Amino acid sequence: MVYEKLSARQKSVKILTKIFEKNIPLKTLLADEGLDEFSVSDRGLLKELVYGVLRNLYFIDWLLESFYKNKKLLSPYTINNLRCGVYQLIFMGLPPYAVTNESVNIEKVFNGKPSVVNAILRNFLRKYMTKPIDLSAIVSEINKDNKLELLSIKYSHPQWMIKRWLERFTEKETEEILKANNQKPTFTIAVKPEERAYIAEHLNKRGILSKFTKYAPSGLIIEGQGHEIREVLRDANFFWLVQDEASQLACFFLEPFEEIVVLDVCSSPGGKALLTSALMRRGKVICIEKNRRRYKILNENIERLKKFLPKVQIESLLTDAFEFNKKNCFERIILDAPCTSLGVVRRNPDVRYRCNESEIERLSGNQTRLLEHISKFLHKEGILLYTVCSTEPEEGERVIDNFLHKFKEFCTIDSVLPFFKDFYIGEGMVRTFPHKHEMDGFFMARIRFK
Ligand SMILES: C[S@@+](CC[C@H](N)C(=O)[O-])C[C@H]1O[C@@H](n2cnc3c(N)ncnc32)[C@H](O)[C@@H]1O
Repeated sequence: MVYEKLSARQKSVKILTKIFEKNIPLKTLLADEGLDEFSVSDRGLLKELVYGVLRNLYFIDWLLESFYKNKKLLSPYTINNLRCGVYQLIFMGLPPYAVTNESVNIEKVFNGKPSVVNAILRNFLRKYMTKPIDLSAIVSEINKDNKLELLSIKYSHPQWMIKRWLERFTEKETEEILKANNQKPTFTIAVKPEERAYIAEHLNKRGILSKFTKYAPSGLIIEGQGHEIREVLRDANFFWLVQDEASQLACFFLEPFEEIVVLDVCSSPGGKALLTSALMRRGKVICIEKNRRRYKILNENIERLKKFLPKVQIESLLTDAFEFNKKNCFERIILDAPCTSLGVVRRNPDVRYRCNESEIERLSGNQTRLLEHISKFLHKEGILLYTVCSTEPEEGERVIDNFLHKFKEFCTIDSVLPFFKDFYIGEGMVRTFPHKHEMDGFFMARIRFK
């Protein structure tokens, strides 16, 4: 196998293979795989291919299925190479000759089966590409009698996931969720609310268009490519961080104020801790993170932004929240618990293939234990914000219901901020959804003593 200096297409095949064979999250791979060696346009192509194949995996596999003679004889590299080829033909409209040639070359690099790839792609072209491609006509060939199968192939989500959404939402809404999960999310940054208008203008002068987020007073939705924007913002002399509007809203739901001490329990990369620091202006934030690698990222982010937060003391601890036993009482606690991430599928399209129902149960148990442990540190007058980026009730409503049932001294309470009225699902509990609010899918609950 040749590994040095792969082309963008070759690297895409390698990344996809690692995701499926080694179960490594896409986010981790993109951070680890040294994408800096690629030009801006090659990096764009690589991401388009990897995200595109992941968002359309079942559909692409369904298209390819009839062209395999003996799929078992093909390596995962060959299969992912074919998936990338089909994605380029169907969704990117790249010239058939160039795509076939490239795919055959990739097969040679990975010591695969160039002649098989050549034959399959040529047969595929013969069937689907003789006239301009009509995606809806192709989709109409999927078995319409089996609703689950149809939605699963059309939107590339596992059937068990769609089944549970169909039990909770109407068919129309389920389809909207699936569609939203396959859309490219906005690039949103958080800034200090009082600087938002000035920063929007500052960006505008540099040719970057932005608009205010609909709800969060700190958010700017930015037009353009993420890496270009990061480049322009790199040396900016103001507080900013990449953060979806839903995650920003969590900091407002917390309602931090000056001079308090905040505990942020599952902290890295620090988005909520840092925006909370900016909102409270002065005080102290203690961040807990148990993962060494993520702890390093948290500290890098604190280091970058602390000069814009001169009156907030931010302390980070590399420790497991279950080991944390300071007898302090905190006026505000953020518990952003590890979860399935099913609310951020549009950002992490691989999540849908890694998740399963027992994983939801396992995480729900851990979330319950974390909440029970951390609630011991809440001040009598304080607020504990429990949040997860998951759409599933086992990780949201059920965790809170069980907690309130077991610990009768606690209750949930609404925010004084009026804009949360669009998100309430019960007293002191909100849900955001990509298909409804154009932001990540979060569950949040504000807990306090009765
Ligand atoms: C959802 S992420 C947090 C995102 C973060 N709050 C933000 O807004 O940027 C969850 C984090 O919790 C950490 N974590 C998981 N279990 C933990 C535990 N028992 N103690 C401390 N940190 C934990 C994970 O390593 C991960 O970094």
